[in-house]
Amino acid sequence: MLILGLNMFHADASAALVQDGEVVFAIAEERLNRIKHYAGFPSLAIKACLDFAGAKITDVDHVAIGQDSDANRAEKVKYALANPARILNFIRLRQRKQPMRDVRSLLAKALDVDPDVLRFRQHHLEHHIAHIASAYYCSPWEKAAGFSYDGSGDFVSTMMARCEGNHIEVVDRVFLPDSLGSFYTMICEFIGYQQYGDEGKVMGLASYGKDTFCKPLGDVIGLRKGSFNLDLDFFKALGSNQGMQVLPDGTVQLARHFSPAMVKTFGTPREPHTEITQREMDLAYAMQSRFEDAFFHLLNQLHRRVPCEDLAMAGGCALNSVANGKLFAHTPFRRTWIQPAAGDEGLAVGAALHTYHAILNQPRRFEMKNSFLGPEFSDANIESELKKAKLCYRKLERGPLLDTVAQEIANGSVVGWFQGRMEWGPRALGNRSILAHPGLQGMKDVLNARIKQREWFRPFAPSILEERQPDYFEHDHPSPFMLHVYKIRPEKRAQLSAVNHVDDTGRLQSVSHEENPLYYKLIRAFERKTGIPVILNTSFNENEPIVCEPHQAIDCFKRTRMDVLAIGPYLSAKTENP
Ligand SMILES: [Fe+2]
Repeated sequence: MLILGLNMFHADASAALVQDGEVVFAIAEERLNRIKHYAGFPSLAIKACLDFAGAKITDVDHVAIGQDSDANRAEKVKYALANPARILNFIRLRQRKQPMRDVRSLLAKALDVDPDVLRFRQHHLEHHIAHIASAYYCSPWEKAAGFSYDGSGDFVSTMMARCEGNHIEVVDRVFLPDSLGSFYTMICEFIGYQQYGDEGKVMGLASYGKDTFCKPLGDVIGLRKGSFNLDLDFFKALGSNQGMQVLPDGTVQLARHFSPAMVKTFGTPREPHTEITQREMDLAYAMQSRFEDAFFHLLNQLHRRVPCEDLAMAGGCALNSVANGKLFAHTPFRRTWIQPAAGDEGLAVGAALHTYHAILNQPRRFEMKNSFLGPEFSDANIESELKKAKLCYRKLERGPLLDTVAQEIANGSVVGWFQGRMEWGPRALGNRSILAHPGLQGMKDVLNARIKQREWFRPFAPSILEERQPDYFEHDHPSPFMLHVYKIRPEKRAQLSAVNHVDDTGRLQSVSHEENPLYYKLIRAFERKTGIPVILNTSFNENEPIVCEPHQAIDCFKRTRMDVLAIGPYLSAKTENP
């Protein structure tokens, strides 16, 4: 049975294919059309899913979409009636969305087939149920507490659920305009980060701040019994676009979130690309701190409703790895399973799995043990691209390849590492990664100057052998998808100077042999040479979506000051390619 899951006409459009209950392929459209956070119809992602399975769209039994504009209608009407000035906007938005519901025509057009030959059944699933489904049905658990939070989806910002067997039972929802995602985005905009997806950057800045604004910013979110509400004086009124606009070319633009009350309380907003002052750092600190308070408050409420130690979580805010790392100390939850594609691309996986288990009542047998669900490329394909690019290269057996790359990293080289299937979700986890020594002074500046050009305050991440994590970090819960930040043990901070953030933390990836044997062996080889079971891992890209295909990796290698490219079994060094 084939189920195609889709996130479409929404940021991070994506497609996923579930074959007999197993997620066999999943990809965001941005990796293929190279438009970051693309929010149109994911035609290329759908084609890639079908190609992988050797299937045609006529073979697909079900199409599942992680959006249901009929969901929570009563709450939408209630809000519109209380805010009559915006009723017209809501009606216009609904009309605009109507053609987007004709999935049959959209698929037929994208794949150039007659709509009458398509035989699939179509399912629409509420946004946050799809998020929770993307975590719970991929987890190893038969029972869990489910949690999803983000800016908004189907008029909801937060959902709590009881997950058991094949079923996800919603126990609570927080409706718009109350939204922790909107709160975070609003402050990010105020301090000059105004692009969709900038929240992750500002999380790094928070560690430089002091608690100057915790009290005044604390008033912006009120915690009440089991929930929260925003002081809407600080926000521009919620419009039809819920704070975000999709432009005709599929790019996403944020609408301004903050109101004059923010300016009155905190002064003039910072213009993008101007100097960052202590005020911005302190605002970021207060924002993160208050966000965490509300997050733990909600999780404790969830635990009261669903008393269970296992937490299945997704939604864009679940990418807040700092909050995730602290939740064990502030809530009764002992284990987390967080969808690697916690943002909206993950809806494709959630909608498809929910259809399989909850609607078709098929038994659970799949567990998402790794995120390598994207395309891979044959050696012949890679070699032909190297030739096309006129690069000098050599082919190595696996052992010498690992040894040479580990030695290059130990020597201080910056290595592009392109292997196997591409990661699903926003993190590079050892298949489309740029790797470097985690303990060389100045390595962070070298990476920024030569390739990444990121903000000075953003830390780089460490990949660590799973069994060595307790030696280096103060928490041993695994973080296979780089979604937890933990304190680095004091005695190891010097060894990890290039990945040790200003508050002595690291957003680690724990790497097991079972999930990525090649990357695991590379870190082992590096440990043999240096005594450090850790490699600095950052995504393989330069101000663009993460590279997907060999030619994109080769282009990135050529145009940046990366020292070495290890692509499949081939190794190319800059020194041999002047
Ligand atoms: Fe979402």
